[in-house]
Amino acid sequence: MNPDVRRAAEILRAGGLVAFPTETVYGLGADASSAAAVARLYAVKSRPADHPVIVHFADTAPAFEWAREVPAGAQALAARYWPGPLTMILKRSVKAQDFVTGGQDSVGLRLPSHPVAQQLLRKFGAGVAAPSANLFGNLSPTTGQHVRDDFSRQIDLILEGGSSEVGIESTIVDLSGGAPVLLRPGGISKTQLEETLNSKIEEKKSHYPRHSGGLERHYAPKTPAVLVPPHQLDAEIARRGASVAVLAFSRPDERVDYWIRMPREPRAYAQRLYAALRELDAAGCGAILIESPPETAEWDAIRDRLTRAAG
Ligand code: TXA
Ligand code: MG
Repeated sequence: MNPDVRRAAEILRAGGLVAFPTETVYGLGADASSAAAVARLYAVKSRPADHPVIVHFADTAPAFEWAREVPAGAQALAARYWPGPLTMILKRSVKAQDFVTGGQDSVGLRLPSHPVAQQLLRKFGAGVAAPSANLFGNLSPTTGQHVRDDFSRQIDLILEGGSSEVGIESTIVDLSGGAPVLLRPGGISKTQLEETLNSKIEEKKSHYPRHSGGLERHYAPKTPAVLVPPHQLDAEIARRGASVAVLAFSRPDERVDYWIRMPREPRAYAQRLYAALRELDAAGCGAILIESPPETAEWDAIRDRLTRAAG
């Protein structure tokens, strides 16, 4: 076991904040049953108090105790995809208090698969409220260093766990109403969910209540980002001159100093996305040009994050 895990669990018990690796992105954890700990979590992140936070567990049974109704579809998804990059929104039980649900009658539940997250959650033995470990609205962190870049002394411990394998946040499916609704695309695709649920999934409605991943400009670098179709990239670089950074599938162009070439395979692309955007953001250019990914379903989650990054 990672030797810091024991200390991390003690910190959580004492109401402290621990950043920990998950397979999607790093989370910033607090005891989900402690109003004071969760209040501190929101303060450190500068997150508005009415935004609900996901509660993390090591096992399915204690996770479902936080829901007052567990539909058959949720059981099926848990059996198939937990632990893994899937968050389910269910009707909350009395365990999920207003300070984690943002006052909503539902709660977000997830079992991360990263071994360090598993160890921590098992050692702590209860629900851990954890948003991504970045300042509100910024890019999510996929390494311990990214967490340190956003927070210096405000958090009590950062557990190291290498680069997050999935690289973008979990898929969120809302099963708290009638038909299931996809709130955020992610590592588990809509098609995979539909196969397990044996029913169609609706896409998020535009005015879905208080769901921060639903804000138009979110997961965003500080440098203005622009999505550019592949056939316009060359002209766009010519028009803007040397002051741009580029994230593209093609080989670097001599005119541009900051260029990151991305994989043409969506899983490899997702894994590197946030680190790449952070690196280009740090270059201090006038704009980041992002070559648009293909319009196919396997790029849905990435297209979602890039569209938000471009505001
Ligand atoms: O991959 C992930 O999900 C990461 C890791 C750390 O687990 N966590 C994460 O948390 O991305 P956060 O807080 O950055 O994003 C969680 C999203 C937010 O957009 C939040 O509004 C939504 O989940 N959410 C949580 N509970 C909800 C609820 N009851 N109803 C609707 N949306 C909810
Ligand atoms: Mg986040």
